[in-house]
Amino acid sequence: MKIGANKFQSAVFQIWMFGLLLLCASQVNAGEKISNDKIVQQPFSQLFEAYIDSIISVLSLDEKISLLSGNSLFTTPGIERLGLKDLHYTDGSYGIGPEFAPHKWEYLTQSTDSGTYFPTGSALAATWNPTLAGIYGRAIAEEAKARGKNVLLAPGVNIARTPLCGRNYEYLSEDPLLNSKLVVDYIKGVQSCGIAACVKHFCCNNQETNRFTISVEADQRTLHEIYFPAFKAAIQQGNVMSVMAAYNKFRGKYCSENGYLLNNVLKEEWGFKGVIMSDWGATHGTVDAANNGLGLEMGNIDTTYFGVNLVVAVRKKEVSESIINENVRRVLRLMFFTQQRDFKATEGISSPNHYKVAYDVAAQSIVLLKNTSSLLPIDPQKINSIAVIGENAIYKSSIGARGAIVRTKYEITPFEGLKKTFGSNVNIIYARGYKAKYTEPTKENKYIYPENNVNQQLIDEAVALVKKSDLAIVFVGTNREIESEFFDRRDLKLPFGQDELIKAVTAANPRTIVVVIAGAPVDLTQAGKSANSILFSWFNGSEGGNAIADIITGKINPSGKLPFTFPASLDQSPTVLSNAQSVYYKEGIFVGYRWYDSNDLTPAYCFGHGLSYSSFEYRDFKCVKNNDSIQFSLNVKNTGKYSGYETVQIYSALLTSKIARPPKELRCFKKVYIPAGKEVLVKLNMKISDLSYYDESVGHWNLEQGDYVFVAGSSSRDIRQKINNLVKKINNLNCRKQ
Ligand code: BGC
Repeated sequence: MKIGANKFQSAVFQIWMFGLLLLCASQVNAGEKISNDKIVQQPFSQLFEAYIDSIISVLSLDEKISLLSGNSLFTTPGIERLGLKDLHYTDGSYGIGPEFAPHKWEYLTQSTDSGTYFPTGSALAATWNPTLAGIYGRAIAEEAKARGKNVLLAPGVNIARTPLCGRNYEYLSEDPLLNSKLVVDYIKGVQSCGIAACVKHFCCNNQETNRFTISVEADQRTLHEIYFPAFKAAIQQGNVMSVMAAYNKFRGKYCSENGYLLNNVLKEEWGFKGVIMSDWGATHGTVDAANNGLGLEMGNIDTTYFGVNLVVAVRKKEVSESIINENVRRVLRLMFFTQQRDFKATEGISSPNHYKVAYDVAAQSIVLLKNTSSLLPIDPQKINSIAVIGENAIYKSSIGARGAIVRTKYEITPFEGLKKTFGSNVNIIYARGYKAKYTEPTKENKYIYPENNVNQQLIDEAVALVKKSDLAIVFVGTNREIESEFFDRRDLKLPFGQDELIKAVTAANPRTIVVVIAGAPVDLTQAGKSANSILFSWFNGSEGGNAIADIITGKINPSGKLPFTFPASLDQSPTVLSNAQSVYYKEGIFVGYRWYDSNDLTPAYCFGHGLSYSSFEYRDFKCVKNNDSIQFSLNVKNTGKYSGYETVQIYSALLTSKIARPPKELRCFKKVYIPAGKEVLVKLNMKISDLSYYDESVGHWNLEQGDYVFVAGSSSRDIRQKINNLVKKINNLNCRKQ
């Protein structure tokens, strides 16, 4: 959009204006001596508001409104005469994607738009390590900065409500606390180098099917307890500078023009001061969007609802200029934060350190699901040959069907990682075992789905190979054609006849390790029956192949924990997908493990599950209640021979409650490194107010008095210690959550 010249554009005015801006900027920069660190901690500090006021006061209406929509797919304009530069946005939940043509959904062919491929969201969540999430966020943002970007369109924090959601691999987990803890550090990491994060997609974009049109309905308690917390934490604890409104409708109104979500919740309840942008092409009107809280229209190629249409709406008094001023203020805050300050030079694209971050996240994310005969880890000195089976052993996941991708300089496949790690003394031979095959797109449905095609010839070749090998490692799972933005999976089955392959290979050689590569739950019933050792890896970034090889040899002791429940079968799941145009979240707060626990269902693998090559003993679980918090402590001993991490998970329950509650809810967790044979004292704490539930009848949080039980476990079902009757007679008023 181009806004015409205005009467203020005289040379005299420009000189005057530059003087004013320099004066304001110098007051902020020098007079106040504000460090970048302080700005990072308080990006919405009052100190910059005078500077922002001075800019708003000299902008014409046309200029103001020009700031509120994209001038290309991934930029919004600055104001040249004032020295305000365009803002550059980039996707990048797991690395900075290739450049797009300005006005077309087409990648440019450039050699300069590569980046490190970091493990995707569900892998990050499986680390259960907020500190690592901060390092990860920082590394991605450094690459964004090196590519001249200002805003990183990440993190995506939508709850994994259904195991089938195509974007579960991009998001984090099924639990609001785990999401909140990870997202706060992630955002702080991103924003620590002067890049604005954008938490997305607000709200209830929990499936891809009909995502552009579906209307979601959820009750207030469910929203506040399950779907809101990560967004609220991003705003109130992470100081995130922008939020992306989701594509879908919520209670009949598009999220991008939903007054309840944008004005009431984000701005009024949570005090959000940053930019509220639409998802790409998700703006549907001018007056409704502006009056209901949308600040920035993004990604519309053909239609522009803001721009000239918004100017007209203001002139007709359908939208007040104060709304425009407020949104301009929000954009200027973002400009100030990302452009006006000289953040220190950071590491460039694909730096060795970034690959190291990718490796560390991958290494801490891999989950040991099962190791009943202690086949793992494998000592390279003790074997001569390995049969590596399966397409996923040679598959690269940085590029996939639809949605964000990364053109990475390198991606180590599992096969390459194994070759390097085991060295030339071990004979590693590969057989494909299965071949990916997909349905043809139809008129009604343009997406492709995996077929369950058994290729007996490939299975026979694999079996012949594993029979003469000391060890077999079968790589199965999904891929990025199957898990993708825009559509969901239709079931949880391992595709392409992989179950048959697993059955045949494990029968031919009991020394078989199954490695599943996927971004979300899959049905591992057959794998569980046939194989004694199962590892779950993810779309695990440029270093994924090295990380899985190091886990297999025991150089790294597995420490990943599942960020979501793996159902034993799809019909156990509280939800599947809705093909309708509206969906009511009838399971309410009973999402993920809350559902399985309440309904006494035994999943294949529970939330928080993940074994280690070591074993950990818990003792002396205690707690002290202070005014508004509870401090827990316990001793955890590594009783095995491998040093490694354990993640202590503390869940609470209220034995007698007047409302429906799940048997347990995650309250705090801590990942600690424990050398072999050593014992450490682990301390955790939580706010008492976090025990509150959202009381719909009064529209706020309430804390029930009663006997709360706290348990400490290695997973949501491997509970090791218990404390009864701890918090009696909590004072309602002091401790209620805000
Ligand atoms: C996705 C967003 C993404 C945007 C820009 C949309 O299709 O939902 O997550 O940031 O495209 O690429």
